[in-house]
Amino acid sequence: MTRISMTVDGSTYSDEVEPRTLLVHYLRQQVGRTGTVVGCDTSNCGACTVLLDGRSVKSCTVLAVQADGHEVTTVEGLATDGRLHPVQQAFHECHALQCGYCTPGMIMASIDLLGSNPHPSEREIREGLEGNLCRCTGYHNIVKAVQTAAAAASEGAAS
Ligand code: FES
Ligand code: FES
Repeated sequence: MTRISMTVDGSTYSDEVEPRTLLVHYLRQQVGRTGTVVGCDTSNCGACTVLLDGRSVKSCTVLAVQADGHEVTTVEGLATDGRLHPVQQAFHECHALQCGYCTPGMIMASIDLLGSNPHPSEREIREGLEGNLCRCTGYHNIVKAVQTAAAAASEGAAS
């Protein structure tokens, strides 16, 4: 076992883990962040996406020990004072989900995308989210949600 310590959604956690423990399993089973989900066994779906030091990663492809000393943000750490994160709000308003299973990963990947490209074209959104699969094929409204979040951020910056 190895002792690791990391910040998850603003709180510090220190735990013993097996070196082979995947970050997604650590987050779900030891930290209790079950909003981060596992959708495949092949690193394809992106449902497990979290932010590691602000950049999106598939947490099923990262070992928990690799996150030692780093900062992790999950979908459960986005809302502040009971208010949804603007990207969460846009997903809600645009009904960018059906079963919702891909939604946590889609939101985290969208936040990273908008962080590096605040005004993405539709094509850039589709390319930016190509690592995230929606089995319900709800891509149209997901793209709309990202566009809505981008527009809301521009309006907020202008006002
Ligand atoms: S569970 Fe991580 S990519 Fe599918
Ligand atoms: S909403 Fe069902 S997998 Fe995307």
